[in-house]
Amino acid sequence: MKIFIISAISADGFIAKDPIAPSTSWTSAEDKKHFSEITKRAGVIVMGAKTFATIGRALPGRKTIVYSNTPINVTGIETTSLAPAELIKQLEQEGFKEVAICGGTTIYTMFMKAGVVDSLYLTIEPVIFGSGIPLFKETLDIKMELLNFEKRGQSIFAEYKIV
Ligand SMILES: NC(=O)c1ccc[n+]([C@@H]2O[C@H](COP(=O)([O-])OP(=O)(O)OC[C@H]3O[C@@H](n4cnc5c(N)ncnc54)[C@H](OP(=O)(O)O)[C@@H]3O)[C@@H](O)[C@H]2O)c1
Repeated sequence: MKIFIISAISADGFIAKDPIAPSTSWTSAEDKKHFSEITKRAGVIVMGAKTFATIGRALPGRKTIVYSNTPINVTGIETTSLAPAELIKQLEQEGFKEVAICGGTTIYTMFMKAGVVDSLYLTIEPVIFGSGIPLFKETLDIKMELLNFEKRGQSIFAEYKIV
């Protein structure tokens, strides 16, 4: 089972300017294509309720799981409040081989702190926010290996493995 974080970040490490900004409003066409390809390959995406609120629907071709303490009544959405390891166990039993953790900072941080993340796909976009929502919001001490990087358009696509 491969658990990965997928995120677009500004060149100064932010995932958004503010909590209600859709994550796609400032990202490149190349990143949208990359996100679609990688998450469809996994078949299951996990996000927090605030990120979901900026999307508002299930994404086609992917099981969409939303973390919330209140059930979300939208077609195709499964709401959860399971601990990361429990959710992963459930998805493994359902036959998934990869899980895409799609944000926001609360969900990225919760999965990273749970020690279940294997790798990160980061798209570095050529923008600077100066302030905003960071990729992670708690202290972490994680070492990674750079597996791949590629320039597409004006974006850098990097894949890291946690060591
Ligand atoms: N650049 C990118 O790639 C990217 C990707 C994703 C998101 N984002 C950005 O990230 C921002 C949102 O991040 P965020 O941290 O504010 O919100 P978030 O992680 O999307 O969602 C937080 C919500 O998840 C629910 N939640 C969290 N932990 C839970 C648990 N253990 N059990 C049950 N529910 C739980 C709670 O919802 P309830 O209050 O409903 O209980 C909480 O309010 C947005 O600006 C978005 O655009 C950027």
